[in-house]
Amino acid sequence: MTSRFAVSGLTKTYGTNVVVDHLDLDIEHGEFLVLLGPSGCGKTTTLRCLAGLETPEGGSIAFRDDRVFDAATKVNVPAHKRNIGMVFQSYALWPHMTVRENIQYPLKVRKLKQAIADGAVDSAAGMVDCGGLLDRYPSQLSGGQQQRVAVARGLVAQPDLVLFDEPLSNLDARLRDQVRSQIHQLHQNLGFTAVFVTHDQAEAFALGDRLAIMKSGKIEQYDEPEFVFENPVSEYVAAFIGMGNRLELRRGHDGWITSADDVVDLSDAVVRDRADEGKTAVARFRPDDVSLHDSMADVPAGNIALHAELVTYEYGGRYFDVTVKTGVEQLSLRANATRHSAALRASRPGDPLVVSFSPSSLRVYTDSVPDSADAPRDLATTGGRS
Ligand SMILES: Nc1ncnc2c1ncn2[C@@H]1O[C@H](COP(=O)(O)OP(=O)(O)OP(=O)(O)O)[C@@H](O)[C@H]1O
Ligand SMILES: [Mg+2]
Repeated sequence: MTSRFAVSGLTKTYGTNVVVDHLDLDIEHGEFLVLLGPSGCGKTTTLRCLAGLETPEGGSIAFRDDRVFDAATKVNVPAHKRNIGMVFQSYALWPHMTVRENIQYPLKVRKLKQAIADGAVDSAAGMVDCGGLLDRYPSQLSGGQQQRVAVARGLVAQPDLVLFDEPLSNLDARLRDQVRSQIHQLHQNLGFTAVFVTHDQAEAFALGDRLAIMKSGKIEQYDEPEFVFENPVSEYVAAFIGMGNRLELRRGHDGWITSADDVVDLSDAVVRDRADEGKTAVARFRPDDVSLHDSMADVPAGNIALHAELVTYEYGGRYFDVTVKTGVEQLSLRANATRHSAALRASRPGDPLVVSFSPSSLRVYTDSVPDSADAPRDLATTGGRS
């Protein structure tokens, strides 16, 4: 299939600050792309460039084969002539317009009178369960209702592309889940093409057909969620998608050594970069992949076991979130509440514990740049780490 939507070499600077840096994205027809990255990495600026609200200095943006922006040939189709829907973090409804007028707005701007006559507004409101709210003003709606109206407004004109800029982050946790699943269902039913910006990994995994993880204006990894989950291309991506545990290692003569001077066998770990003797490396892994034990005798065969001491724990219903210290590092883990409640409740900070994890849960990174023969495919295609 040809790309529905292609961004190539997109560059946007503010003064001397390069905010979007030669960014490439190919988005297939009907694809839900999630742009994931920390605050300030250029997510909103990228969306604003796609929408035509900012003028980039370099690169091109094409819908199907039509260029809406091309720095080289000075093509720049204005925002209102790009068929794009937008849903913002702040609901951004017009306060002086009713819900009906708000949803109708994109149809009026594009002079789609037939769609209005055919009931497009009622049907868009119905899709987000706001059919009964059409005569109200935004001030008479809850936050969740306002954001659902904003979603209806973003979709009503059946745009080529729908841009979502952190639309769930102002909602409380329960509403966030509701509106998220509504957006997901709408996408499954309507099949629109979307770019959805978030800094929340759970949202990204839940919604994305593909994830683009952004760092300093560049795409660090661009892959399907399961692939990103299993194969983060860099420590930056690993940390961003929930591998919160970090263990510093160095390569000794007989293998890898932790900061507590334990030798660990990493033959089953995913070591992304080669490391020679004397080199340091960092292992990343998820709290879910760490187990808690009373003694070394309880550690499953093949697991890496470390002596630790308790720092703190928090009850979470079926589990405890436990923080322990091993050597100089703190590790987080999730311990089953039924199994560990009594022992944890009876323990004090500083009490000795044993933690273990399978080497296969580790992703190991060094600072070395892999040579092309063993470069992971994404490093090869996205230009590598900065
Ligand atoms: N109009 C502007 N003038 C100057 N600098 C700007 C402007 N807009 C954004 N920036 C800067 O560009 C960088 C990227 O901003 P952007 O809003 O794209 O980040 P973001 O990834 O959306 O962050 P957040 O998650 O906080 O929304 C930031 O350093 C920001 O300060
Ligand atoms: Mg932003």
